[in-house]
Amino acid sequence: MEKAVGASFASILKGYILLLSLSLLQGLQGIGVNYGTVADNLPPPSQVAKFLSESTIIDRVRLFDANPEMLQAFAHTGIAISITVPNDQIPHLTNLTFAQQWLNTSVQPFVASTNLIRILVGNEVISTANKLLISTLVPAMQTLYTALIESSLDHRIKISTPNSLGILSNSSPPSTSKFRQGYDTHVIKPMLSFLEATDSPFMVNPYPFFDYTAETLDYALFRPNAGDVDQNTGLRYTNMLDAQLDAVYSAMKDLGFESLEIVIAETGWPTLCEAQQVGVDPSSAAEFNGNLIRHVSSGVGTPLMPNRTFETYIFALFDEDLKPGPICERNFGLFKPNLTPSYNIGLMKSTVTVVAAAGAPYGVFLLTVVGLTLIGLWA
Ligand SMILES: *[C@@H]1O[C@H](CO)[C@@H](O)[C@H](O)[C@H]1NC(C)=O
Ligand SMILES: *[C@@H]1O[C@H](CO)[C@@H](O)[C@H](O)[C@H]1NC(C)=O
Ligand SMILES: *[C@@H]1O[C@H](CO)[C@@H](O)[C@H](O)[C@H]1NC(C)=O
Repeated sequence: MEKAVGASFASILKGYILLLSLSLLQGLQGIGVNYGTVADNLPPPSQVAKFLSESTIIDRVRLFDANPEMLQAFAHTGIAISITVPNDQIPHLTNLTFAQQWLNTSVQPFVASTNLIRILVGNEVISTANKLLISTLVPAMQTLYTALIESSLDHRIKISTPNSLGILSNSSPPSTSKFRQGYDTHVIKPMLSFLEATDSPFMVNPYPFFDYTAETLDYALFRPNAGDVDQNTGLRYTNMLDAQLDAVYSAMKDLGFESLEIVIAETGWPTLCEAQQVGVDPSSAAEFNGNLIRHVSSGVGTPLMPNRTFETYIFALFDEDLKPGPICERNFGLFKPNLTPSYNIGLMKSTVTVVAAAGAPYGVFLLTVVGLTLIGLWA
């Protein structure tokens, strides 16, 4: 054991280097999840919040409502929270008094302790084809913003709304994409103006899962493949997500809003579907979500948006057993209700990531302890 004690700075350094490289491999960058709760078997929110903050690298969560128990659960965790005003409330929110009351009761009690970053007004509203909801969407966002200013929360909390790719009239090739006629000037342009003026991102839900065929499975899962050339630009697409994001970008550019940030509010891949569907099993889901995390955080960007990262929320945190529809809908979860991972894609914090996340000098101390332990093990 003298060997270990004498040992040295070089060995400690070796430990550091090993740890640092492990950390890099793990991809320390945080990732977001959609925390849906259409289930009767999920653990209580307080347990989920503790689990996410202590045991995973998930650092942002989108909620589908503004449930006070949820907001309370995430207090003091630091996790960035987006809440949602349900679609049916949108017409009411055009009333300033209602918007103020909503902020007073749903947001104000939690702002001191919960890291609330965004309020989402509805979800995929334009795709509902509900005329009342669609026509009140942007006015509701504006009114809520006025109420936010009055509460002095406008610098801390942003307002946006997630959109399905159904808002595009055509998406292929990506460079020719446009928003649907009618919606483009009446709803989407005012929405993009609002987002630009309030420094808020445009949020979209691109799902390669709902677009692939047996022939394009590799392209959808970010596996090596020949790719697809956009004849208009000569740019080669090697994964479907990039093509979808660039279609959104081209449509935004067509209206003059290409500099707005894009956030991926939902994307994902299920582990189980109707038996005949090719490409659905835990290992394909792990490939999609694992490759997705690496891709959006790599800084490579897309062919039309090079050198960017994308804030991304995987759908979904849990399998949700009460969701209606095809089997897949109930099986998008990264975790089972008992908090075990559906598959391993490096979302769990290891000792290594804890060490690297901790600031110096505490981190240095931990690194040294772990380094010495490793040296001890090697000796
Ligand atoms: C606006 O909202 C307030 C508070 O909910 C309500 O009392 C009032 O009647 C609403 N006004 C209109 C015009 O609906
Ligand atoms: C919201 O709260 C503020 C501060 O407590 C109060 O002045 C205001 O009257 C409330 N607004 C509504 C509509 O309840
Ligand atoms: C993206 O990064 C690469 C490598 O650093 C650089 O050569 C290129 O000019 C950058 N492109 C843009 C559009 O910034």
